[in-house]
Amino acid sequence: MIDRCLIKDIPANIDKVIRLSGWVDTKRDHGKISFIDFRDRSGIVQMVLIPACLDEDSLSVSKDIRSEWVLECTGLVKERPEKLVNPDMLTGNVEIEVHSIKVLNSAETPVIPLDQEKSEINEESRLQYRYLDLRRQSMRDNLEARYKVTRFIRNYLDDHDFWEIETPYMTKSTPEGARDFVVPSRRQVGTFYALPQSPQQYKQLLMTAGIEKYFQIARCFRDEDTRKDRQPEFTQLDLEMSFVTEEDVMQLNENLLINLVKTHFPHKTIQQVPFPRITYKEAMEKYGSDRPDLRENPEDLDTLAFCWVVDFPQFEKNDDGSWTFSHNPFSAPKDKYMKDLMAGKNIENIISTQYDIALNGYEIGGGSIRNHQVEPLKKVLEIIGFDESAAEDAFGHMFQAFKSGTPPHGGIAWGLDRLVAILQGEDNIREVMAFPKTGDGRDPMMSSPSTIEINQLIELGIQIVKSKE
Ligand code: AMO
Repeated sequence: MIDRCLIKDIPANIDKVIRLSGWVDTKRDHGKISFIDFRDRSGIVQMVLIPACLDEDSLSVSKDIRSEWVLECTGLVKERPEKLVNPDMLTGNVEIEVHSIKVLNSAETPVIPLDQEKSEINEESRLQYRYLDLRRQSMRDNLEARYKVTRFIRNYLDDHDFWEIETPYMTKSTPEGARDFVVPSRRQVGTFYALPQSPQQYKQLLMTAGIEKYFQIARCFRDEDTRKDRQPEFTQLDLEMSFVTEEDVMQLNENLLINLVKTHFPHKTIQQVPFPRITYKEAMEKYGSDRPDLRENPEDLDTLAFCWVVDFPQFEKNDDGSWTFSHNPFSAPKDKYMKDLMAGKNIENIISTQYDIALNGYEIGGGSIRNHQVEPLKKVLEIIGFDESAAEDAFGHMFQAFKSGTPPHGGIAWGLDRLVAILQGEDNIREVMAFPKTGDGRDPMMSSPSTIEINQLIELGIQIVKSKE
């Protein structure tokens, strides 16, 4: 049997007999002759079904064929006469004269129309039949772009001596500020793992371990309301480095972003390089936002206005007047505020080493230099209201690590879904995720979340108590 030919390679096979496998995109009958737009992962080509050229079995089966059927066909690649060339198609100068057809699978009429704009179709249906929705070219383009972005990041960080290290998904709650998703333990009934809101503590412990340069394309879980730029399960590029300053982390990330855009999004223009830096105070005063949209012309989809936001206050006041951390409790203050932190003085004026990166009005990343010694970390926890034993319970392992020779370190995490969505001109991060959740956190395709067997509940020692409405 001849090797399978991908549709993109057809133009190099003129006058040859080839074998194609793929899907019927559309079929049009013109009297005895039919035309099929045939699709595989690499493109679309027009096939012509002429009764005189088809073997008997193929001719009889050809009458039943409909959209989305899966076929294997052999046929002759013919150059089209000049006036019939379709300049809009990569394979527009050829067509396939089909000789034989084998039906690999039939298909019902697609439950969601694939020839309509995705915006015209109900979101719930798109997610319920996601495997069909992902057949759209625009969705394939998004998945491909996402893959290229992650591949570029991996190669770039590899070139800069980083190691990619996986950290656990079954862990202990980290205080990132959102609600945790929890997983009940069967072996220790009544205890729970938390799914990580980020790998924050693990990456810091990898610095204690002497890894020095870590990264991970990490899934993070936060039980918060879904919005167009928020999913309960999302992906970060997470990285951490030892013996660095804010400047080192920002430079590396800025260069990575610039090179990524140049390589994979050459039609996009970065409005300003080096990326402008503005203080939190200035951002709030001038733009009323800590993730300002600095585009001079926000209508222009191909402009990327990156900016760094720096000089965040270390602490914020809660409604009840108590203090909380503004980003995460591990951030160090800038050096000159360390004295005030340790004295618990001028708390409202302490500026942290936090740096956020915004792009076109979205926060696409954030990080900081960390407190790598025990006392400042304990002091932060004290200011935000942890008493000694609560701090020990929650962070005793970090205290122990920081007493074991933890180097100074800092890092950042990007919201990968957000970055890819903006680069792809999508308004919702769902469009760049293969299997996202609905606004209320469901997966209508798998019907999750779902109830579990009573036996599973018994094993886990869990009783469901329905709250009275
Ligand atoms: P932070 O909580 O700021 O920092 O998260 C980093 C980036 O992740 C993205 N992000 C989200 N994207 C989609 N859906 C969500 N629900 C969601 N939540 C956050 C944002 C954000 O900028 N551990 C620290 C990082 C560090 O200090 O190194 C952290 O997680 O783009």
